[in-house]
Parts: sequence; structure tokens; C-alpha cells
Amino acid sequence: MPSEAADGLMFSPWDPTDVDGLVQWVVDQSWDNYVTRHPTPAMVRGRVAEGFYAGPDCETWWIQHEGADPPVGLVRLHDLQDTGALFDVYVCPQWRGRGVGLAALRWLTRHLFHEYPHVMRIEAQTRADNRAMRVVLRRAGYVKEAHYRASWPTETGELSASVGYAMLRQDFESGRTTPVDWDAEP
Ligand SMILES: CC(C)(COP(=O)(O)OP(=O)(O)OC[C@H]1O[C@@H](n2cnc3c(N)ncnc32)[C@H](O)[C@@H]1OP(=O)(O)O)[C@@H](O)C(=O)NCCC(=O)NCCS
Repeated sequence: MPSEAADGLMFSPWDPTDVDGLVQWVVDQSWDNYVTRHPTPAMVRGRVAEGFYAGPDCETWWIQHEGADPPVGLVRLHDLQDTGALFDVYVCPQWRGRGVGLAALRWLTRHLFHEYPHVMRIEAQTRADNRAMRVVLRRAGYVKEAHYRASWPTETGELSASVGYAMLRQDFESGRTTPVDWDAEP
């Protein structure tokens, strides 16, 4: 079922029979912060066949805006059978900086904690220089838990640092922030 969010945004589940629609949309994007910047149709079809977008462990949702066609973004939720769920969010370039990413994070956080009672934390890892994603994560209440040095391959072959953020169910429910115990050393 589609669910509405603020400002004319709507989140609709990807229909797994619409493989052509997904493939076309994905190859039309430039995945700049990803290892494969320009996936080919065959690559995307391969991912579909492997259950990358839908299956017992993952869901894919379109981000839609009333009056806009095609979808303005995509949310992929995965590792849904674990207590720590993961996600990926992509907003089309012309829609960035307009609050879509933040709305998507708020929506997916509520969705995961409501629909998956066993999920205790939601995690995200991004490149350290992905400032937009980091801004959005912090605004949505996610807490930085990790800084991985030389961990994320870039287009030039160099390794960039990456950062890990998470939201705990207990914090989502209480509105408080559990601090990270940085000084706990053996
Ligand atoms: C990351 C992403 C989802 C954010 O979505 P968005 O719709 O642009 O996010 P919002 O509009 O809600 O907020 C972005 C905020 O980051 C800020 N921002 C953007 N680029 C920035 C930069 N280089 N430095 C500092 N802040 C930046 C924006 O100004 C905005 O803050 P504001 O509301 O104060 O202006 C989007 O940029 C995207 O899809 N990027 C490509 C895919 C990607 O990197 N996904 C994450 C993979 S882990």
C-alpha cells in the first residue's frame, strides 16, 4: 500500500513484475557515490534476479511526488531478517536539497520499526565526503558510531574514509539519544 508523507511525497512499493520500469529508471541515473556509477541494464536485471530489490530480506520503494513522473527517488531496505536493518536512499539530482532525503529517512525509520518488531537498530554507512547524506542522517536523529579509515573505493582507485550511523529502536521510541561509549577500552 502506498503511504503518504509530508509535502506531496508518497512512498509506494516497487511492483516486482515491473522489472522493465525499474531497470530503465536505474540506468537513467548517475550513481555518483556508488562503486558502479553507470550500471547497465544487464547488471540491474542480474540484481533483480538475485533478489537485490525484493525478497524475504529486502523491499524497494519508490519515492513519488504528486504531479511528478517518473519517481523522484528510490529507497531500498535490506537485511530485514536481522535485528540490524540496513537501507539505501537515492534522490534524483533535480530533487535534491528540497527535503526529500530527510522525509525519506523519517519515513523508512518509522516503517521499519513499525513493520518489523524484531528490528532493534537501523544502520547506514556512507562515504565520509557525502555531506548531504550525513546532514540528513543527523537531522533524522541517527548517531555516528563509526569512522572507517581508507575503507571505500573511489573512482580514482583511492580509498576514502567512510562513516557509520545508526538509530536505535529504544531512542526512536523514547525520543532520547543513547550516547556512544567511545572511551570503553579494555
Ligand atoms: C544524500 C541524499 C539522499 C540527500 O537527499 P536530499 O533530498 O538532497 O536531502 P535534503 O534536501 O533532505 O537535505 C540535504 C541537506 O544536505 C545539505 N547539503 C547538500 N550538499 C551538501 C554539502 N556538500 N555540504 C553540506 N551540506 C550539504 C543540503 O543543503 C540540505 O540541507 P539544508 O536543508 O540545510 O539546505 C541525496 O543527495 C542523494 O540521493 N544523493 C545521491 C545518492 C546517495 O549518496 N545516497 C546515499 C548513499 S549512502
